[in-house]
Amino acid sequence: MGGRNAFPAFCGYLHTGVHQEDAALTHVEPGTPCGEYLRCFWHPVALSSEATDLPRNVRILGENLILFRDKQNRVGLVHKQCCHRGASLEYGICEERGIRCCYHGWLFDVDGTILETPGEPADSEAARRLRANLRQGAYPTVEHNGLIFAYLGHPDHRPEFPYFDTFEIPETETQPYARDYPCNWLQITENAMDPVHAVFLHVRVSGPQFAESWGQLSVKEFYERETGLFYTNARKVADKVWVRLHEVILPNLTHAGAVMTMDGSQVKYFGRNTFTRWVVPVDSENSRVIAWANFGEKTDPPKGEWRTTEGIDVIEGGMPRDRPPEGCQRYPGDYEAFIGQGPITAHSLEHRVSSDRGVEMMRRRLRQAIHGLQNGERPFQPAALSGAPIPTYCGDVVLHCPQVAANEEALLDHSRKVIKIIRDADHLVGQARYDRITEGLKNLETN
Ligand code: FES
Ligand SMILES: [Fe+2]
Repeated sequence: MGGRNAFPAFCGYLHTGVHQEDAALTHVEPGTPCGEYLRCFWHPVALSSEATDLPRNVRILGENLILFRDKQNRVGLVHKQCCHRGASLEYGICEERGIRCCYHGWLFDVDGTILETPGEPADSEAARRLRANLRQGAYPTVEHNGLIFAYLGHPDHRPEFPYFDTFEIPETETQPYARDYPCNWLQITENAMDPVHAVFLHVRVSGPQFAESWGQLSVKEFYERETGLFYTNARKVADKVWVRLHEVILPNLTHAGAVMTMDGSQVKYFGRNTFTRWVVPVDSENSRVIAWANFGEKTDPPKGEWRTTEGIDVIEGGMPRDRPPEGCQRYPGDYEAFIGQGPITAHSLEHRVSSDRGVEMMRRRLRQAIHGLQNGERPFQPAALSGAPIPTYCGDVVLHCPQVAANEEALLDHSRKVIKIIRDADHLVGQARYDRITEGLKNLETN
């Protein structure tokens, strides 16, 4: 150690080089490496309430699209520009079957089939051939529990829609929500693998935004699985051990534990995630989080006052969005931490350290998958895991364990036991799984 610091005091001048993002992980437009990778998966694209007979502009992965609902209640997601001569289908009229372009009346089905070209003679062979050989650009959709999902990839590779256990948490009410961020998708998504920020951003620096116990540095361990990554984050809180698990399903589905009510002081057997949340790229410099907030005993209790815009903001990012600028500066939350990095983080400017391990792991996994795709290897699809729902692990486990010491070794050992108990129940579903895990965790309390 020792030696001279390469940077003298007051070295601003030496840092003024041009810094750039890692384009391979951040650029999402069609034809880019990451854009093609992201197009391998289903993503939520809107709330169900946004799909009506009034067509709506939706921008996803750098594509301008129109979302609509025809009179049969079918959802359509089509390219904005009409394939005849480019009029916007934002001004299209929803009909019994599909959407009709306002300009010359071509009628498109939800799958892009050209049903009518009414300006052409009824017996025109050329028009018949055109209808048989051309379609408006369209994407398949799935509507589930207040969200609309779409697959924007090549039609030959459409994966099965993955159904996760967190789509249906027992005794839980869900609230669909969406929040816009004027920044790249990666800097939002990787926060889900950054437990250290919670200690500082949410408590010590500008908080406490959640309970004081969040400000205690925790004992962390990161894991990988076929679907992505997860971590354990353990703290001793009086005679309890609080293990918080967060999980990212690649590329962009994030799960976080309870926030409003979680302080590690009350026993909780396999609590679940307070949101089921996708970070959807609008384009390379904008994102839209589309999610379910989960209210219930396993997550955060369903107190009415939290089902408000402000309550959802706090679940989503620690602080309300609608604040005067000074409040954002004095009490920044996740939103400020994300967008403050600029439209796209300049990765060449970063100096990552050991506590960035989760972020490093996530970027490595993304890079591997993107390179693999470039070499013709399709990324792993969660639905390929046998059975549905697909088991996930996120949530809070708080056990009465006075016997576990408040040191790194003991907390790590305890966390590994918790994970083993949860993972050993992967083959079970529904209540049987919860019962098995709860039984295992109760045994751990008494051993
Ligand atoms: S531009 Fe749409 S029908 Fe002509
Ligand atoms: Fe946060």
